[in-house]
Amino acid sequence: MILSERSKYPNQSKKGVWESLQSPKSRCSPPSCIYRRMVAGNGLFYPILGFVSCVVFIYMSFGDLRPSSREEATLSFVKRNETQLMLDGRPFYINGWNSYWFMVHSVDESSRPRVRAMLQAGAKMGLTVCRTWAFNDGDYNALQISPGRFDERVFQALDYVIAEARQQGIRLLLALVNNLHAYGGKTQYVKWAWEEGIGLSSSNDSFFYDPSIRSYFKNYVKTVLTRKNTITGVEYRNDPTILGWEIINEPRCMTDPSGDTLQDWLEEMSAFVKLTDKNHLVTIGLEGFYGPNDPKGHTVNPEEWASRLGSDFIRNSGIANIDFTSVHIYPDHWLKTYDFEVNLRFVTKWMHSHIEDGGKVLKKPVLFSEYGWSDLIKNFSVSDRERMYRTILDIIYKSAKKNRSGAGALVWQFLGEGMNEFEDDFWMIPWKGSSTYFLFLQQSCRLAKVTGWSTQQDRSFTDACKKI
Ligand SMILES: *[C@@H]1O[C@H](CO)[C@@H](O)[C@H](O)[C@H]1NC(C)=O
Ligand SMILES: *[C@@H]1O[C@H](CO)[C@@H](O)[C@H](O)[C@H]1NC(C)=O
Ligand SMILES: *[C@@H]1O[C@H](CO)[C@@H](O)[C@H](O)[C@H]1NC(C)=O
Ligand SMILES: *[C@@H]1O[C@H](CO)[C@@H](O)[C@H](O)[C@H]1NC(C)=O
Repeated sequence: MILSERSKYPNQSKKGVWESLQSPKSRCSPPSCIYRRMVAGNGLFYPILGFVSCVVFIYMSFGDLRPSSREEATLSFVKRNETQLMLDGRPFYINGWNSYWFMVHSVDESSRPRVRAMLQAGAKMGLTVCRTWAFNDGDYNALQISPGRFDERVFQALDYVIAEARQQGIRLLLALVNNLHAYGGKTQYVKWAWEEGIGLSSSNDSFFYDPSIRSYFKNYVKTVLTRKNTITGVEYRNDPTILGWEIINEPRCMTDPSGDTLQDWLEEMSAFVKLTDKNHLVTIGLEGFYGPNDPKGHTVNPEEWASRLGSDFIRNSGIANIDFTSVHIYPDHWLKTYDFEVNLRFVTKWMHSHIEDGGKVLKKPVLFSEYGWSDLIKNFSVSDRERMYRTILDIIYKSAKKNRSGAGALVWQFLGEGMNEFEDDFWMIPWKGSSTYFLFLQQSCRLAKVTGWSTQQDRSFTDACKKI
């Protein structure tokens, strides 16, 4: 993902089953009472009587029937109004996280409890969105074994992730393919086409321009979006648990620095997603670099190389079918200096610049869908990392208070206990008690105060907010 010498995925020497799965992007981000357990087999069944008594209870408890009252029995889709994400008619500002590993961890019964535990922990912290991978192409426990061939076991694992998120009141931002090699990515698609003798070129970027590979990918998208969840009975495209679709994680097309190839591909794919699914928001998965013709390439991009990657924040995000933009924040991988203050200033400028673009130029919400501060840097300290994260969270909070376009931020990345194979230089286990835990909890509480308590807010979260 990075051009600098420092690798975001440093654990290459570790051995184990998961070795091939552990790159940074091979690595993935919670409210609650609401859902009674509606586990395996029963489908989505809300007993009318239960709903009525729930409503009566709320009415008696609170004396009004605001759509946002807790204990509500239906989820609604996250929508957009101009520069803001909206939930139940109110602006929605996100404090969330990445846990890319949910699906691969849900394949085996033995590791599934980690997924539930992570979602529960997120809900307790008041986090509302987790970003995770809805792809694994041709790799160990692949969802897509080869073009158009799917492993039903793995699909059921993804069903489980979505059903479990729904129960915990967490929404999922689901990514559909990787630009990077981890979990298959565009390299795997190119390899498939090559193996079948229909690939035009062995360049990884032929993923973007080869017509047969485009149809492989569209077929994949269609299969996922129209999948009927075997646990809830709801088609993915009709499931409000899904915040939206992210077309591709960190797309770059360096063989065409003009940006035309990637732009063309994104136009086609975003239109295709919208054609298949009218309910969900669509985003790209960009890192957020300004393109070659944008003056901000010189003033805001971390360094010169960033405008030569074939991606262009303004042009790409301007596509009509893209509902909100995505931006990543990795100062320690992007800048050559380790000076913490310089890095901090970069982050502030980077975020303000994109939020301003979202408000004035693009008129779309801006989601910082990954941010991280590596523990490999010289003189790393948890307190520096927390200062960096607090800076990011403060900017989102101010955006929320002012109804601006900065729609939220998702930290990279949370792991559960005993997941060494998934560790990178950013991971943390956010269990209760750590100072980082309180940092995130605090952000959730103050966002909830600004935008109103979300429909499925976990009771222990609301209680925790009263104590801080
Ligand atoms: C959408 O946003 C505009 C401007 O921010 C505001 O005037 C309008 O009331 C909003 N509409 C809804 C449905 O919230
Ligand atoms: C494609 O990407 C893979 C994995 O990053 C790399 O090993 C390979 O050399 C690339 N192929 C070409 C032709 O650039
Ligand atoms: C690391 O800390 C040492 C001792 O405090 C200091 O001399 C050095 O300049 C620091 N290095 C960086 C890159 O900040
Ligand atoms: C932001 O929008 C909400 C609802 O749309 C409104 O109640 C609130 O007053 C606005 N805040 C500011 C600072 O404009």
